[in-house]
Amino acid sequence: MAVGSVELGKGGKVINGPSIPDSKYFLIKQLLKRSPYIHTFKPCLWFTGLFIHIHFLRIYILHIAHTFKLKMAKYSAKQWFVKERTGDSLEVDKTFELVAKELSTDDLTEGQLLAKSLWFSNDPTQRLWINKDSVEGRLYRAPIRNGEPMETYGIYEIVESKAADHKKGDLVFARGHWSDYCVLDTDSKGDPGAFLFPVMGDPTDLLTLGVTGITAYFGLLTVGAATSKDSTIVVSVAAGATGSLVCQIAKNVLGIKNVVGIAGSDTKCELLKKSCGCDYALNYRSPSFKDDFKEATKDDIDLYFDNVGGEILDMALVRMKEFGRVVACGAISLYDDMKGPGGKAASAGISSDAWIQVVCHKIRIEGFIVLQFADQIMKALTDLGTWAAEGKVHLIKDIWEAKVEDVPQGMLKLLKGENTGKLITKVVHS
Ligand SMILES: NC(=O)c1ccc[n+]([C@@H]2O[C@H](COP(=O)([O-])OP(=O)(O)OC[C@H]3O[C@@H](n4cnc5c(N)ncnc54)[C@H](OP(=O)(O)O)[C@@H]3O)[C@@H](O)[C@H]2O)c1
Repeated sequence: MAVGSVELGKGGKVINGPSIPDSKYFLIKQLLKRSPYIHTFKPCLWFTGLFIHIHFLRIYILHIAHTFKLKMAKYSAKQWFVKERTGDSLEVDKTFELVAKELSTDDLTEGQLLAKSLWFSNDPTQRLWINKDSVEGRLYRAPIRNGEPMETYGIYEIVESKAADHKKGDLVFARGHWSDYCVLDTDSKGDPGAFLFPVMGDPTDLLTLGVTGITAYFGLLTVGAATSKDSTIVVSVAAGATGSLVCQIAKNVLGIKNVVGIAGSDTKCELLKKSCGCDYALNYRSPSFKDDFKEATKDDIDLYFDNVGGEILDMALVRMKEFGRVVACGAISLYDDMKGPGGKAASAGISSDAWIQVVCHKIRIEGFIVLQFADQIMKALTDLGTWAAEGKVHLIKDIWEAKVEDVPQGMLKLLKGENTGKLITKVVHS
């Protein structure tokens, strides 16, 4: 057989020459049959095949890499840790430390989420969590220890999920961390404060109602048992998140005759009168405060909603009616270096005068922690939502934007009285 020729048998089968086994390749075979350049053509075929194989291999490798990348999604997070708990006036640099951390899906165990922080709730109680003097077992939750991440309630967007009920892109309300990305557990492991549930509606409404709205609701109506029969109710820290709602419920829902709000500036007092239904709005920094207080409470107090403790609590105790009720909601003047109204040192104890009044006037003082009403939250949110829709209650929000580096400033804002209404941090991502 001459060089370059192909001998074909029945059906075009090559019986002598390069073997092409499949009759599907009839065209090629015909080409080969006619080609005097079979020796040039054969290597070309090999190279074409090799090229196609490499091409598909490349696509396959890219696909694997892409899948692997998704599985291994990484997030560069910055997270605040408690460096040194403090009983003194808070100084961010001494108390907290910002740590860069790489988070990836590999860090997640079953039931966990990797979440992007969107909004943080700023709560005075966070100051107690990191107070050096907060004793394990004597706070309503475990204090945060040195070296642990700083916690916060907030709204988070799920970016990676290993929990069947939560998918990427969903928003959740949860107790997470002061960080731009964090890992959230969907299992509370029996911790009543470790909430995690889906967000519906405006996230800032939920932070306002879901954290402090329910505190105002249960504090006033359940603990304080306030009714329209009460004629004078006094509220401290009245222009804050909880206080502003207590005043509005007292006036606009219960119709209490004399609602007295106490706050730290004339501007806040103006808001209390104009928007929160207060009959009296008293600035505790004013030199006439004590006299103003006497005037506003001349008929004595049925119910005092205490958010501040210290000197104002003392003043209220000596003006209570017989069987008057004191709702001990908080004592913010004692949380940070015992600074009382106007920056003066607060009396942490109740004065002897006031204590005698507690006995003689059969005053009931009852503390509470809103978490104790966890099973009734839906009823509270429904009522608050209805009152808001009816215009009886306005949600007063103070939203500030912060990069994760600036988040601790929110705690200082609360302690310095820079907020009006509910202070919410909108987390800015670069
Ligand atoms: N028991 C519970 O379950 C529960 C739940 C939530 C909140 N709370 C308590 O409710 C209170 C109010 O908290 P909130 O979340 O509604 O926040 P908030 O009222 O917005 O708290 C911040 C306000 O507190 C006032 N304040 C800060 N330092 C003060 C000081 N040394 N003396 C007097 N007033 C001071 C400032 O208002 P002025 O400018 O008017 O002074 C500041 O704007 C706190 O005591 C908190 O611990 C209790």
